Amino acid sequence: MQLSGALRSPILLRNRAHPAELARPRGGFNSATAQPSVQPLVHVTPAPAYLRREPAPSDQSQQRRGVAKERVGEDGGRRRGEAPQRKVNWRRWKQERKAEKKKWKELNLLKKLEKQGRHYTLSVALPGSILNNAQSLELRTYLAGQIARACAIFCVDEIVVFDEHGEDAKSVEGEFEGIGKRGKACVQLARILQYLECPQYLRKSFFPKHGDLQFAGLLNPLDSPHHMRVDEDSEYREGVVLDRPSKPGRGSFVNCGMKKEVQIDKQLKPGLRVTVRLQEPQNPETKVRKGTVVSSHHPRTVSGLYWGYSVRLASCLSAVFSECPFKEGYDLSIGTSERGNSVDQVTLPSFRHILVVFGGLQGLEAGVDADSNLEVTDPSVLFDFYLNTCPSQGSRTIRTEEALLISLSALRPHIDEAVKTPTDKSEKENH
Ligand SMILES: C[S@@+](CC[C@H](N)C(=O)[O-])C[C@H]1O[C@@H](n2cnc3c(N)ncnc32)[C@H](O)[C@@H]1O
Repeated sequence: MQLSGALRSPILLRNRAHPAELARPRGGFNSATAQPSVQPLVHVTPAPAYLRREPAPSDQSQQRRGVAKERVGEDGGRRRGEAPQRKVNWRRWKQERKAEKKKWKELNLLKKLEKQGRHYTLSVALPGSILNNAQSLELRTYLAGQIARACAIFCVDEIVVFDEHGEDAKSVEGEFEGIGKRGKACVQLARILQYLECPQYLRKSFFPKHGDLQFAGLLNPLDSPHHMRVDEDSEYREGVVLDRPSKPGRGSFVNCGMKKEVQIDKQLKPGLRVTVRLQEPQNPETKVRKGTVVSSHHPRTVSGLYWGYSVRLASCLSAVFSECPFKEGYDLSIGTSERGNSVDQVTLPSFRHILVVFGGLQGLEAGVDADSNLEVTDPSVLFDFYLNTCPSQGSRTIRTEEALLISLSALRPHIDEAVKTPTDKSEKENH
């Protein structure tokens, strides 16, 4: 699909090669050291220092004077010959417990990161016309931001913005012509989605000033793993190839948003967005870091990292399917509607590329009616599953941006179950 000139460069820039992150050791929370006993401890095993009772000043003076005075207090103070009670240093115990918890959380996160790569993709399609329900540029922008955040939260790999009024779309090949007056919303939505997906340090290189982006800088950031801060340590980074000469046989220089530039293993065209796998710094004194260019899905497939989404425009509903970027196509498709079957009962089959499609104000019917490539009137026949993801809804209508969050949340456990490998399943059974 060809895009209008204005949009072409940002949309094509998802011509990126991406990769993995830190594999850190597994470990657990040491409950033995973190669980204090509230019972008076007996001399069985030496307790950690912070559990040992420091003799109170009065005790010390009594001991010094050799006084063996019997005391019976409210707290059941010890009698002569009884083992000394150990006083719990709660402040220290709390601090240590907090530190243990933090360590445990980090290890858990690392365990997740250590997980093998993710080999399936999740695509979402929705009509750009939803922006037309917002009254001002600020509100249109905010709506686009909500879509971007929902997609990042649920690790969506591809967002397809389709023109549900694509009346002129007789063919799904050739120039993209779905941008009439109404189609402008599609381009605007796509542009804002791309802008938000791009790491902040690369935005200047890829997004020249544009009216559609006037308020995009105010939007909540996606804060996804590929949006690195300057000093953040990571195996992978997104970067832009710099227009800077390098010696023959050496690779191009790339700005990866770090203090040092990265020299990659290939000579590439300046201005290209790339995913770089960074080598461990051999010598911290060197002026540049070394790295290799990898494909943009590398971080997902090798290390299971979420590495942002790509954005695609479709001139009509049928083009969502026919212009699928995956060679094998989408092997599982879900249409969403309040008239669908309840999501609660569904069992999804295993898949490689799942597509979840949403309608606009008039539902998916509008996209079907306007698309001359489709000879059906009932949208449900286009999909493997047609699902109501919010049975017993309390509002007459659920807006598309709400349906996106609700549906991805409701589908998540079903997707997880469907993509479980036989090993995952047998592990679960054994527990
Ligand atoms: C404003 S609603 C469309 C309502 C429209 N009256 C209809 O009949 O479909 C916009 C989109 O949100 C999604 N949606 C709304 N309610 C839903 C539900 N209960 N389950 C799943 N998707 C829903 C669908 O994709 C729908 O096309």
